[in-house]
Amino acid sequence: MRYRKLGRTNFEISEIGFGAWGIGGKQWLGGEDSESLAALRRAIELGVNLIDTALAYGDGHSEKLVGQVVRENRGKIYVATKVPPKNRIWPAQGTIAEVFPYDYIMTCADESLRNLGLDAIDLLQLHVWSSDWLASGEWRRAFEDLKRSGKVRSVGISATEHDPDSVLGIVETGLIDAVQVIYNIFDQAPETRLLPLAKKLDVGILARVPLDEGALSGRFTEDIQFPKGDFREWYFRGGRRREVVQHVDALKRDLAGESVPDTALRFCLSHPAVSSVIPGMRTRAHVESNAALSEQGALPGEMLAMLKRHAWDRNYYT
Ligand SMILES: NC(=O)c1ccc[n+]([C@@H]2O[C@H](COP(=O)([O-])OP(=O)(O)OC[C@H]3O[C@@H](n4cnc5c(N)ncnc54)[C@H](OP(=O)(O)O)[C@@H]3O)[C@@H](O)[C@H]2O)c1
Repeated sequence: MRYRKLGRTNFEISEIGFGAWGIGGKQWLGGEDSESLAALRRAIELGVNLIDTALAYGDGHSEKLVGQVVRENRGKIYVATKVPPKNRIWPAQGTIAEVFPYDYIMTCADESLRNLGLDAIDLLQLHVWSSDWLASGEWRRAFEDLKRSGKVRSVGISATEHDPDSVLGIVETGLIDAVQVIYNIFDQAPETRLLPLAKKLDVGILARVPLDEGALSGRFTEDIQFPKGDFREWYFRGGRRREVVQHVDALKRDLAGESVPDTALRFCLSHPAVSSVIPGMRTRAHVESNAALSEQGALPGEMLAMLKRHAWDRNYYT
């Protein structure tokens, strides 16, 4: 496993991080805690030292599993978690007083610390963001006080789905250490402004949803079924599965036998502004195959040029 620095922090984080939404169990169904714990432990054995979770993932369940595994480990494991919007609306909607008032941010950080069973959170992120809140004192004061108290070591923002530019302003304030953003073969938009700015200002980048919620696993069929009530049943609703299969088939033709998920993760790591890519993983098999990719390095230039043609402008989160 190779490691990169997370922006201006002194965290040397693994290029492959562990996305822990799926193991929360409420939005992604069909997993088992025993396998999730085994996947987390295997990831750590293979050198993964960054885990991205959130208070909202299974209402604290993901944080509890993550905390359990982190506490039994002697080496340093970096835990990133998130404060959910108070009104529980994704993407961001409302005033800062409705979404992230100071007291609420402080209370959520304490709740995450209790779930994790840890003394400090390495990276605390706001789970949604609106550029309208830039001038507000609420998040500035909360971040400052949490850092000063030692409860939080670094702070960041999770950018609005398919709107990387929504965080340019807050990155420019110099007050955040990292941004988590959708960056994958289909959504290459962060390359235009966010990634160059983050590189210039030395702000960390976590590339989230690198497999487009599983579409870039390369295994979908037009009639794939998800468990009833699973987030993916909604995300891939109606004619979307057929659209996905058409786009992934076109990609497969150009990849001429190269693995779709391997290429998708290496695509993210090929950009120098990316600190870590955080695929969601609930099985040891996925952990093993993904952790092995870090050593393979960046994709060749011709491959990256070819992948540019597969950018796909759409938003399934609405
Ligand atoms: N708003 C936000 O801040 C936000 C939103 C979404 C995600 N995130 C973060 O980003 C992480 C990643 O996103 P995600 O989990 O939503 O989606 P993702 O990483 O794009 O896709 C996850 C899917 O890919 C599958 N997968 C993983 N490795 C694979 C491999 N080698 N071959 C085939 N399939 C593979 C997983 O299967 P299994 O689950 O069966 O292993 C799962 O079905 C999340 O876990 C979370 O930490 C943040």
